[in-house]
Amino acid sequence: MVSIQSRWRYLFMFLGIQLVVMALLSREGYQKRVSYFIRIFRKPDSTGRNHTVAGVSGGDVYANLSHLSKAHHHGDEMPYCPKTSPFIRGPIHVSFPSGLTLAEVQKKNPLVVRGGRYRPPDCEARHRTAIIIPHRHREHHLKFLLYYLHPFLQRQQLHYGIYIIHQAGNYTFNRAKLMNVGFREAMREEDWDCLFFHDVDLIPEDDRNTYVCDSNPKHAAIAMDKFGYKLPYKMYFGGVSALTPLHYLKMNGFPNNYWGWGGEDDDIGVRVSLSGMYITRPSLKVGRYKMIKHKLDKGNDVNPKRFNMLAKTRQTWKTDGMNTAEYETISRQYLPLYTNITVNIGTEAGLHPPSPTPPPPAKGAGKPAVKAPAVKAPAEAPAKGPAKPPAKPPAKLKEGHPESP
Ligand SMILES: *[C@@H]1O[C@H](CO)[C@@H](O)[C@H](O)[C@H]1NC(C)=O
Ligand SMILES: *[C@@H]1O[C@H](CO)[C@@H](O)[C@H](O)[C@H]1NC(C)=O
Ligand SMILES: *[C@@H]1O[C@H](CO)[C@@H](O)[C@H](O)[C@H]1NC(C)=O
Ligand SMILES: *[C@@H]1O[C@H](CO)[C@@H](O)[C@H](O)[C@H]1NC(C)=O
Repeated sequence: MVSIQSRWRYLFMFLGIQLVVMALLSREGYQKRVSYFIRIFRKPDSTGRNHTVAGVSGGDVYANLSHLSKAHHHGDEMPYCPKTSPFIRGPIHVSFPSGLTLAEVQKKNPLVVRGGRYRPPDCEARHRTAIIIPHRHREHHLKFLLYYLHPFLQRQQLHYGIYIIHQAGNYTFNRAKLMNVGFREAMREEDWDCLFFHDVDLIPEDDRNTYVCDSNPKHAAIAMDKFGYKLPYKMYFGGVSALTPLHYLKMNGFPNNYWGWGGEDDDIGVRVSLSGMYITRPSLKVGRYKMIKHKLDKGNDVNPKRFNMLAKTRQTWKTDGMNTAEYETISRQYLPLYTNITVNIGTEAGLHPPSPTPPPPAKGAGKPAVKAPAVKAPAEAPAKGPAKPPAKPPAKLKEGHPESP
């Protein structure tokens, strides 16, 4: 027996569901149809190199880059690069050939110089971007990332540098603190106007996803294959994000106290809004990434405290961040494809806990152990005031307005 009243209720429920479904379809339907066609038109091939993607030929991240080495300009009056690089092509085919070596990556990138730096040879870059990659025991992933990232950034005609921030010892991994180290160490070396904080296992799949900063912090990895090429939740800020030095200082960098997997990216997302900024994003079509599959690493177990910590970000962000990041630089290697900065970031108990794990010997190239200038802050720092400036004063960190006086 169904009363009139409940029949009306069903009718309204039905209409409501219809409206929701229609809203969803109009938002994502287009994207779905497009990716469906891309899949249909993608030719299967054995080499994994030649691809036809929805009528756009290409997909090889190295296509056309060989022209660059020939067009070498010398002289003082190099023109600015065009606003949109002519090398940008769109979708990039990403695969992981088993035999790849770093030597091959080096050979394919002849214009990359010591420390993994590059400038367009025939024009003055409009943007200077540092890539910061927290790292430990992921050489296999790093090799693939470098294979794709170098040509990807060259296609965008950027002046760039790639920094690996290597956590010494075997203590629990701390991604966010390594980012703080990367920020300070990169800014010490060059006047970068944008920093990309980049997980080692994420490969960008579209070169229209330009590695330049926005007017607000940008979350670039919005569509990962792992999440079905969708944003997993609205405040998600993980994987790859881009901040100017001023953004970074405004939010007091990243938290130092997230040891182990998880939570720190949400904390960072919360810091963005607590410091009066908002998250910008590229389109879902462009912010696509392929994740290199792997198991959870040793020494990077899920952090059980993450939810409790996250609930306190509002109270902690001003006293835990860039202004309290303590570490020691153990070695600095300027390798052909990247700069490897190895650091002791200590443990929860501090930089020199009672039974410290001895850092690995710094062998090979690079300067001997360089001690970072102490960035000590009192344990009870007052919960106000701006973040301490990095090694370089922020006055030097112009926010990319070449035309302003
Ligand atoms: C890939 O493209 C090259 C030319 O760009 C061509 O010589 C080669 O036959 C193509 N290979 C496949 C498998 O289509
Ligand atoms: C890239 O190469 C294709 C052919 O492979 C050519 O049609 C296109 O004009 C080239 N683009 C640039 C910017 O050199
Ligand atoms: C870290 O662990 C590896 C084995 O997992 C071991 O070979 C190495 O000696 C350890 N390093 C330190 C500094 O304890
Ligand atoms: C970076 O340098 C450290 C110290 O020399 C070394 O143990 C580590 O393997 C290097 N990492 C990479 C990715 O080059």
